[in-house]
Amino acid sequence: MLKEKTIVLGVTGSIAAYKAVAIASQLTQSGARVNVIITKAATEFVTPLTFQIITGRPVVTEMFNLTSEFSIEHISLAEADVIVIAPATANIIAKLAVGIADDMLCATVLASKSPIIVAPAMNVNMLENAITQDNLSKLKARSFIIVEPASGRLASGKEGAGRLADATDIVGSICQVLGENGDLAGKHIVVTAGGTQEPIDPVRCITNRSSGKMGYALAEAARDRGARVTLITAPTSLTKPVGMKIVSICTAREMHQAVGVAATQADALIMAAAVADYRPLSVARDKIKKEGNRLTLELERTADILDSIKGDFIKVGFAAESSNLVENAKQKLQQKGLDLIVANDITASDSGFGADNNRVTIIDREGKIDSLPLLPKREVADRILDRVVALLAMKPENNRS
Ligand code: CTP
Repeated sequence: MLKEKTIVLGVTGSIAAYKAVAIASQLTQSGARVNVIITKAATEFVTPLTFQIITGRPVVTEMFNLTSEFSIEHISLAEADVIVIAPATANIIAKLAVGIADDMLCATVLASKSPIIVAPAMNVNMLENAITQDNLSKLKARSFIIVEPASGRLASGKEGAGRLADATDIVGSICQVLGENGDLAGKHIVVTAGGTQEPIDPVRCITNRSSGKMGYALAEAARDRGARVTLITAPTSLTKPVGMKIVSICTAREMHQAVGVAATQADALIMAAAVADYRPLSVARDKIKKEGNRLTLELERTADILDSIKGDFIKVGFAAESSNLVENAKQKLQQKGLDLIVANDITASDSGFGADNNRVTIIDREGKIDSLPLLPKREVADRILDRVVALLAMKPENNRS
């Protein structure tokens, strides 16, 4: 996604400037060419040399530097795939809102036709000030993408909004912008993730070992290929991805309802969630106290979401199997009326539940079996989406658009 892309990273004078080093590092490691422009104020917090070493590229600080490789700098730098300003102070936001070009970063932005992402970081009062809010509204109206600041403890010691968004959110926004016109542009992809939780009493529940990683990787990959994504997620320890609609649920019943709503406008439904097949017949109102040596829980079947959800969208299911992988998966594909099923062997220790990698077999309606090698879940996600793209292209209404 980021490979060979030219990204200008503007760093301005906020205490959060040191966090831009991690962003520069992540982008560089992903194969992007990162040109850092650092304002004079930012150099009080972090040195240009740090960025130069991290990115392996010259760092621009001065507007007029004839020795730089960027000849007429603000023009050559302006031709980036994306410009991201992180952290963005109230000052730079104000300057951009009115078109001031008195330093290299402002001049580059003003001269650029590239998408521009702004990640504000400042004191809560400065952020909430009507002037800053007006300036942010102006930028939004001019198609700047704002990665909203997070809330928490600020440098001043106060609690409130104004912390620089997480590096993953900022990098996620960059990927989304770069993938805007991808092969899923204009499509709505609904993805489910994680293991549902079925309550027993106020403190206990029945759940499973699903980490949600495969579903989250699918949602992010679909977003980065231009799709509008709805991620319906059971509780996980993962950071919620940016740039998509997130619906948080707990139980199989809640997931069923959420899928029902989202699927009405879906082009594809990918059920990566590990949905409970049974739930306690009744949920105890009070915590169940220990009594005797045994406890019997009565369970009832949950509805099969994939099986019961009907509509004119591509249906992709997963099959978590510990034996007879292909046969069981084929049976599920047929029973649930799926277009594709992604089978994984949950007994393998290097893939599947909780792991960062997965080794899957994709089976389609025609019975074609595609066994993929062990791959990072994000790559598996892209391979699944390649198949979804091909199926969508074959749908009759796509020949209309
Ligand atoms: N699934 C579902 N609703 C359920 C259970 C499963 O939609 N109540 C979906 C899963 O999200 C997955 C597929 O069905 O995409 C297969 O799930 P899996 O757990 O492998 O199989 P089951 O159908 O539950 O059958 P079994 O547990 O007997 O293997």
